[in-house]
Amino acid sequence: MNATPPHLTPEAASQLRDDLDGWTVDTVQDTLGERAMRAFGREQLLPATIAARAAGRERIAILSRLFILGDAVPREDVDAALPTLGTDGALATGLVEASGDAATDEIRALVDLRPTSATTEDGELTWWVAHDQGESITGRAVREDHVLGVGGASSTLASITMRTPVGRTLDLGTGCGIQALHASQHSQQVVATDISRRATAFAAFNEALNQPPGAAWDIREGSLLEPVAGEQFDLIVSNPPFVISPPGTPQFEYRDGGLEWDGVVAALATGVGAHLNPGGVAQFLGNWLIRDDWTERWEQWLDASEVPLDAWVIQRDVLDPAEYAETWLRDAGITRERDEARFYAAYEAYLAGFDAEGVEGIGFGAVLLRRPMLGSPTLRRLEEHEGALQSPLGPHLIDVLAASDWLAGASDQEVLDTAFTVAPDVTKETYGRPLQHEPEHILIRQGGGLGRSIKADTALAGLVGACDGELTAGQIAHALAALLDVPPGEMIGGLVPAVRDLVRDGFLTR
Ligand SMILES: C[S@@+](CC[C@H](N)C(=O)[O-])C[C@H]1O[C@@H](n2cnc3c(N)ncnc32)[C@H](O)[C@@H]1O
Repeated sequence: MNATPPHLTPEAASQLRDDLDGWTVDTVQDTLGERAMRAFGREQLLPATIAARAAGRERIAILSRLFILGDAVPREDVDAALPTLGTDGALATGLVEASGDAATDEIRALVDLRPTSATTEDGELTWWVAHDQGESITGRAVREDHVLGVGGASSTLASITMRTPVGRTLDLGTGCGIQALHASQHSQQVVATDISRRATAFAAFNEALNQPPGAAWDIREGSLLEPVAGEQFDLIVSNPPFVISPPGTPQFEYRDGGLEWDGVVAALATGVGAHLNPGGVAQFLGNWLIRDDWTERWEQWLDASEVPLDAWVIQRDVLDPAEYAETWLRDAGITRERDEARFYAAYEAYLAGFDAEGVEGIGFGAVLLRRPMLGSPTLRRLEEHEGALQSPLGPHLIDVLAASDWLAGASDQEVLDTAFTVAPDVTKETYGRPLQHEPEHILIRQGGGLGRSIKADTALAGLVGACDGELTAGQIAHALAALLDVPPGEMIGGLVPAVRDLVRDGFLTR
């Protein structure tokens, strides 16, 4: 691990890019094998190191040993694997250190550099992302200004982000710049901010190495929304430092934003609105305190926003304070085995802090806020959803927002006059006793999106089954009324709200 983050001149960036060509997630997997990759996923490096060493001087194996596995590699092998940049060039960038100048002297990486794959409109892309080495390589707890690599939360945010072409995007808390790399694919300009100078240096390195499309990133140092005071964006993305650390618990720049409790999420919820252009969207992840009803806190934050916003918050998980403490102590490398006294003192501080605040749980979820293009907000949806999500989810969110906009302006008569089509991912499941003529339960299930399912009665199931894009909802409702011997007004009154829900959630499309 190096005190100084790496840096790239344009010439070194171009040389390194040439040398890394073909070093992809797939070629690494092919070289190391499935057993090694599975162990790697459990943060066990030994099987991968054995496999990579066995591959000898093969280029993919050498690059992986050096930069992903933190293994020492002889200088002559590094020279062969980086034929354009060379070991001397890599030393000058701060990527590696050397034990000497001889061909057999050891070269070790000072940073973690690895390929990551991304699915974009232009197909599957490979980016090489540099960040600080983790504990599994260094064997030490991470430094306070540790710069994270691409983790689960990074990928979740990237998956849910709506990739509509936009002008200006802000990536707040950019870290190694992974969200900015994604945003560059569909933004004319990206502003990337972070409180950490080390993080902004890594982001600049990764921009130089990967040369994303669009204008050069505007990388700024500063806390939360301060670096963009007075500016507006079409998209704000943030995987912010949302971890909640009660007094006396360990703090790290990469996960604590410097505000008390869930103050970072509160600051974004109440503050991003003023930084959105009309129609602009903010998407971020967060943790929040739960005392009784989790939605109350969100209602308060949303009501306190300077600019009224459409809001959709999906709570994906809830941990009790003990589970939360254990999770983030493990993340910090503070374990009972390593330092029992420190572990228990910090564990107790978590519990004491949360208990004193009357906290029953800590929610985790995804937030989508939108400044209405015109007029007042029409969407406020706070829901719990722990099930699997379609990946990427962004396209579905785009459809859902478009459907809710249409529904907000559509009268019941307009809904009835519309010919809907049942979405291709929707299936019907019926349950009942084998000898029973009619099913006891009918479930209409969505294969994509949020994988929702709704219970339907015979009339609603009949309506969904008849939505072929030809008949209007009103025509189908009248036919069902006659078939089921129900007064038409009653049938329509029952079906319209259900159709609205189905359209809003993407079961029926226009
Ligand atoms: C969880 S990391 C996210 C990194 C990256 N955007 C991703 O998606 O993987 C949070 C980042 O926020 C930064 N950060 C911490 N406190 C901050 C603050 N008050 N204002 C802005 N950024 C902050 C950290 O340095 C870190 O890089």
